[in-house]
Amino acid sequence: MFKPLNEKLSKLLHGADYNPEQWLDYPEIFEEDLRLMKLANVNVMSIGMFSWAKLEPEEGVFDFSWLDRVMDGLHEKGVSVFLSTPSGARPTWMSEKYPEVLRVSENRVRHLHGARHNHCYTSPVYREKIAIINRKLAERYSNHPAIAGWHISNEYGGECHCHYCQEAFRDWVKAKYKTLAALNHAWWTTFWSHTYTSWSQVESPAPHGETMVHGQNLDWKRFVTDQTIDFYRHELKPLREKNPNIPATTNFMVLFEGLNYDKFASDVDFISWDSYPTWHDSDDERDIAAFTAMNHDWFRSLKGGQPFYLMESTPSSTNWQNMSKLKKPGMHFLSSLQAIAHGSDSVQYFQWRKSRGSSEKLHGAVVDHVGHEHTRVFQEVAEVGEALAKLEDLTGASVKPEVAIIFDTENRWAVKDSQGPRNMGVHYERTVQEHYQAFWEQGIPVDVISMDRDLSQYKLVVAPMLYMVREGVGERVEAFVAAGGTFVTTYWSGIVNETDLTYLNGFPGPLRKTLGIWSEEIDGLYDDESNAIKLNQNNPLGLTGEYGVHDLCDLIHLEGAEALANYQSDFYQGRPALTVNRLGKGAAYYMAARQKLDFNRDFYRALARDIGLKRVIDQDLPEGVTAQLRSNETTDYVFVMNFSNEERKVWLDQVEYQDALTEQKLSDHLLLKPYGIKVLCRPKVKR
Ligand code: GLA
Ligand code: ZN
Repeated sequence: MFKPLNEKLSKLLHGADYNPEQWLDYPEIFEEDLRLMKLANVNVMSIGMFSWAKLEPEEGVFDFSWLDRVMDGLHEKGVSVFLSTPSGARPTWMSEKYPEVLRVSENRVRHLHGARHNHCYTSPVYREKIAIINRKLAERYSNHPAIAGWHISNEYGGECHCHYCQEAFRDWVKAKYKTLAALNHAWWTTFWSHTYTSWSQVESPAPHGETMVHGQNLDWKRFVTDQTIDFYRHELKPLREKNPNIPATTNFMVLFEGLNYDKFASDVDFISWDSYPTWHDSDDERDIAAFTAMNHDWFRSLKGGQPFYLMESTPSSTNWQNMSKLKKPGMHFLSSLQAIAHGSDSVQYFQWRKSRGSSEKLHGAVVDHVGHEHTRVFQEVAEVGEALAKLEDLTGASVKPEVAIIFDTENRWAVKDSQGPRNMGVHYERTVQEHYQAFWEQGIPVDVISMDRDLSQYKLVVAPMLYMVREGVGERVEAFVAAGGTFVTTYWSGIVNETDLTYLNGFPGPLRKTLGIWSEEIDGLYDDESNAIKLNQNNPLGLTGEYGVHDLCDLIHLEGAEALANYQSDFYQGRPALTVNRLGKGAAYYMAARQKLDFNRDFYRALARDIGLKRVIDQDLPEGVTAQLRSNETTDYVFVMNFSNEERKVWLDQVEYQDALTEQKLSDHLLLKPYGIKVLCRPKVKR
């Protein structure tokens, strides 16, 4: 159970991005919006993210009159505000007068004015300009009764290669390595005579320059994260000076790779993210549902389980994905409550009202161009608002998984850049999902964490393709297993350290002892190639039969581990393909080859039984159905969700549940409509 960050955040929020600055020439629209907001059961709006040109129409000339009206009007109607700082897009006059605010691309060409999310985060002028406007916003609104939190910028991302950024990168590198000798060793620059003899020679990667020094690529990405966080801190400073009590966030993006969110997380007071799943992109909705669930779990885990905020989602379709598919009846309610199930304390949309022109005029919104409330989308939005009000006791409730999957951003950068056994795709993200999904289908909650997080609270830790093992991680995994934990990892783990220098003396490096194996070689398989593994008789998990494997096959030697399965073909036929090593009170499993979902399902089901992992509902769930659990001090909320377009019957595991929305008692079983969801309550079970 988590305490609310302030009184405004002590309920589940429902709202949208709202851009009233686009409608200042249509004064009747604001009044109409206030009327519609009441009908849509919303209680929060995120405003101001793209309004710099309306707030500062000329350099040093400010106009807050329209924003005053908006803030006051929303407050009168009981709608609170996430107030944005406007750095996500700048006024044209600024780009014209100070070209240095414009980003320089990897190829060293400076952008022209246009689009958004493309400022230089180092430019002294940009930093000065954003500090001025942020200070003014804070002076005017940080004690306004409507404000619930700061929404800093919008979807930070991307990199700048201008001379200011190069200078800052050199300073960063110098601070990290202290000496050129240390830098040259960490980056292994003797290779191809890339040795640096002066700090001034260090540059960011460029398509027509350096791209091959993997340690350097990694450090550049780390610098981009640090410099973006530094810009965030710079934005926050004047806000904090005026009122230190307003919590702040910046909206993160789905599986975003450009920033290490695990590092960013400690700077924000709460995590928020923007979710746009491609619902209905195939007949089997499990894939996109599990992918979305994994993202929610990742964002929740970034701050140790603290509730996150779903800052944006579409009430119908986007207009930037390949297909602008509408959400089928039920899906909007289901996907909104899915976020709540995984730990969100809000459901918010992009956007409240469709723009009249420009690139997002056809993006889904609560209020369509027709302008009234009599639309399917509006009604479904209103229903979500009604349900969230009924579920208010869930605010701050926690999700406490027994399982963690390691999904690590630096590992992701490194394994994809490494030029290794499979340059046609090592499929890191996909692989992580295929492990995750095996738990999701059983209704077993999961945390998604970086390798630096504390492992001791989990029964099972799964680390697919842990190619990079940073300092201390091998020891922590070993201690976790010795103390009784179960660890599962795969081929292509324990290969490099934090600057992409390989481990000497045998893979999987610092995990070798824990796993009781030595990996001598790894074979890459073309897309149309496969091998198979056969389970040994009487293996301790009781698995039987053969499973196809693909992409990567690791050739290992047993060094204390027991083989549970062997390869079936090629020159490594008969060699171990799945192992377990007992260490202290725990066990460490090694999957030597890339399995498919069918194996992961069977393996993790057997393992869950073996180590006694609790399922949210202690029953097998039908295809497409999952269950998630959030608990406050007294009550377990069990979310049973049907991500299939057919009715499903779900067996219940205890005598009586109560439907949290209808208060109806339920026992024995329940029926879920296509894309149906039920939120059930039971007295809290001690877990
Ligand atoms: C992002 C942005 C929004 C909007 C939506 C459209 O999430 O933050 O401003 O462009 O995409 O889906
Ligand atoms: Zn720059």
